[in-house]
Amino acid sequence: MSLSEEQKQLIESSIERVAEVAGDPSPLVYERLFAEQPEMKELFLLDRDDSAKGHMLMEALDCVFDLLGPRSYAPTLIQSELTNHDGFGVPPRVFATFFRVVKDCFAEVLGGEWNAETDAAWNALLAEIDGVILQQAEKYGMAVN
Ligand code: HEM
Repeated sequence: MSLSEEQKQLIESSIERVAEVAGDPSPLVYERLFAEQPEMKELFLLDRDDSAKGHMLMEALDCVFDLLGPRSYAPTLIQSELTNHDGFGVPPRVFATFFRVVKDCFAEVLGGEWNAETDAAWNALLAEIDGVILQQAEKYGMAVN
């Protein structure tokens, strides 16, 4: 993976700081997601206790930690979820926005603590994830744009 050790460290500590500063970031992440992609809100209508939302964010962050570390399952999970999500109405174009929404949300939570190096590290991670998504979308003939 193209991320340096220092960049991995910056991403990890930014996630840990968000938990310290904001507690569970889930409400903020989904508020931002639904502001950007209002048509996705109805997919969560049955999720009255927010548990599916919370679980999905946790899985996505676990993927980030796996990509920063052992890289043992995240590319495969992202690839299979891309196909699953397409099946229940989340097109690849929208699926690909989730990690960026997380990044933008975390940057807002951390305010002045979010510096240029942290931003560059997250951008490198997002580029990596976009690559995984693109590869899978091409393989299965899904439109990404
Ligand atoms: C904007 C993009 C996304 C939207 C709108 C979305 C939407 C959803 C919805 C509606 C569910 C509930 C499905 C159901 O139970 O019927 C779900 C579940 C799930 N999503 Fe996403 N998703 C997105 C991106 C992602 C990404 C990037 C990942 C990568 C890890 C992911 C992983 C999961 C997992 C693991 C579940 C199962 C969680 C559970 O039901 O407990 N999703 N997603």
